[in-house]
Amino acid sequence: MEVVIADEDTLALLAADTIERLLRTEAAPVLGLATGSSPLRIYDELTRRHAEAALSFTHAQAFMLDEYVGIADDHPQRYRNVIDTAIATRVDFPDGAVHGPDGSADDLAAAAADYERMIAEAGGIDLQILGIGTDGHIAFNEPGSSLASRTRVKTLTRQTRADNARFFDDDIDRVPNHCLTQGLGTIMEARHLVLIAVGGNKAEAVHQMVEGPISAMWPATVLQLHPHVTVLVDDQAASRLQLGDYYRHAYENKPEWQNF
Ligand code: F6R
Repeated sequence: MEVVIADEDTLALLAADTIERLLRTEAAPVLGLATGSSPLRIYDELTRRHAEAALSFTHAQAFMLDEYVGIADDHPQRYRNVIDTAIATRVDFPDGAVHGPDGSADDLAAAAADYERMIAEAGGIDLQILGIGTDGHIAFNEPGSSLASRTRVKTLTRQTRADNARFFDDDIDRVPNHCLTQGLGTIMEARHLVLIAVGGNKAEAVHQMVEGPISAMWPATVLQLHPHVTVLVDDQAASRLQLGDYYRHAYENKPEWQNF
């Protein structure tokens, strides 16, 4: 697990560099897209590179992490609409190349199984962008999630619904209770995980994820078992890291030959 501590703009540039490298070198790259606030600067930077530096997504596919259940198709906070606005319609993905779990399916278990099959048929995810919840969730795998879980319905914690109320007119009652989310086992199969976290409200979750014992109580701790994870954090999100100075030193002295 590599931990990079930098300002928000630098973090977005670093993530965009990694994604650009993938898009320019892989014949059929598969991206994993997170919603929420954390990746928005990355998506802005990718959009800028698409417009100004001919960065193309025409040969790429993308898979979203999660979707609310029981939200209207045209609701601006439906994650499919959020991703369309944030990136999918701003770059040149081919029609049908951006996939999300179908949170409005009548049969949610079948929709979850379909989603797992689609990811597998695409050859798996090359690079998965992740955020982290204040309760340590990744995607919507809330505390108590099986570390081996697959795409399924989850109930959101009150903490997550309170955190996301800012997208629903600050009204927690408007935040859906349920979601369809990739499981921790699903996420762990992506070949490179790039997690971005900014702000002091993420500091405890980041500390647990990087330095705590692996536990379903802090679902992101499962990432300690993945061979290729890049954690991008600003000073506030890094503020509870016990080995913060070491991570800074390691990154400042990173050899040329060590790929990001
Ligand atoms: C979103 C997702 C969530 C968010 C997390 C952080 O698709 O999977 O895990 O990444 O809730 O959200 P923000 O970035 O809004 O703080």
